[in-house]
Amino acid sequence: MKMNRSSLLLIFALLLELLLAGCKSMNTTQYYHETIPWEPNFDEQKMPPVVLPDALKCLDGRRVRTAEDWQQHRRPELLRIFEETMYGKRPPMPDHVEYTLLSERNDVFDGQAIRREFLVEFRMDDGRRHDMVVVLYIPTRAPRPAPLFAGLVFQGNHALTDDPSVRVTGQRYPNTPEKRAEWGQRRGHWKDSYPIQTIIERGYACAFASYHDIFPDRIDGWTESIYRLWFDETALSARIPGYSSIGAWAWGISRVIDCAVTQPEVDGTRIACIGHSRLGKTALWAGVCDERIGLACVNDSGCGGAALSRRLIGETLFSMFHKNHFGEFWFTDSLAERSLHPEDLPVDQHELVALMAPRAVSIHSATEDTWADPKGEYLSAYYASPVYRLFGIEGLTSPEPPPPDTPVGETVSYLFRTGRHALQLADWEHYLSVADALFNTPKTE
Ligand code: GCU
Repeated sequence: MKMNRSSLLLIFALLLELLLAGCKSMNTTQYYHETIPWEPNFDEQKMPPVVLPDALKCLDGRRVRTAEDWQQHRRPELLRIFEETMYGKRPPMPDHVEYTLLSERNDVFDGQAIRREFLVEFRMDDGRRHDMVVVLYIPTRAPRPAPLFAGLVFQGNHALTDDPSVRVTGQRYPNTPEKRAEWGQRRGHWKDSYPIQTIIERGYACAFASYHDIFPDRIDGWTESIYRLWFDETALSARIPGYSSIGAWAWGISRVIDCAVTQPEVDGTRIACIGHSRLGKTALWAGVCDERIGLACVNDSGCGGAALSRRLIGETLFSMFHKNHFGEFWFTDSLAERSLHPEDLPVDQHELVALMAPRAVSIHSATEDTWADPKGEYLSAYYASPVYRLFGIEGLTSPEPPPPDTPVGETVSYLFRTGRHALQLADWEHYLSVADALFNTPKTE
């Protein structure tokens, strides 16, 4: 066969590309396994070259140019990749869900709020069941139906408040009676992270459940998780391929919302979700999966949340799987092997943020939280912005993160709060102001 000049050039170009690709993977592999075997790196100078996948480029190489094309083709494609590679399949709805009012108080915060607790029972036709308890606060002195903040809480609902009448929940986590008793003593432990009175005074309803009631946060949590609605004991005794605890927790946020919006005083069209740290990763995935959520508040979510996986600053996917082992159930099993080579993942986390478009997302980092890679969290929001632009929404415009305590953006917003890894009042104040603008919440005094 005779080759013309242009075929020879093409072959030469292909060979060059292969050679360069080989060098790149040699460098990164060397980097992972020799330069920083398992020690976290906080130095941008030692960061490997970061080449992010293009959110607007479909798997078949086609470029997305319209919001409609994004919604119809690229969004479902990316959603499927995130299910397959990171968070597992989204659990379905149970055959039946029943709500039972367990308690009601009208005198909370001197009458500023009504508090209701619900037992939420999930049942399958074959008799399998699971349940959780939701605590819902509704403002009495603000216009109603009120917009809603929904989320999961660490420990249990009793950790939200000093009020002894709020039920102890989250008891599926401790696995001995002694630990259960000790766990029940954690009343008010998380009250500074969930300033319910402030939320109420700002005109919002809020609803929470314990994340342990959805999936106890331990490696063998499967047996007492929602997955027992669909899987038998043998399957639950090991990790279930293709599913994850973050997938279960995100499902749980949607079920908290379902419960809250059964109440006429809660507005089912103005919903924000919120989560911190591992529950920040969860809030982002929940926001992506549940399109009723108009705003996802993603607090200090770090690796596997808003932070870009390819930067390898602070926590990495591979340390999460092969060092502290959270990965073994927080994420789907297929990520274990792939976590060693984040540079080869078909997605990075800016594409997860982009899946919120055109809905709002607010990402927060904390100055002392280097483990979560604040800059990587910011850059995810920045690199998600071209997708927002398809919808005529500007997103973030500067590749440089803002200085501490200076929020930027509207529909896509970011705050670099001074302080430690935590959900604090300053975080809530920003999330609430983003929600005010988005939901046109009238100012209350
Ligand atoms: C660990 C973990 C993080 C996680 C955090 C938390 O630090 O490495 O990925 O976000 O716990 O949830 O508190």
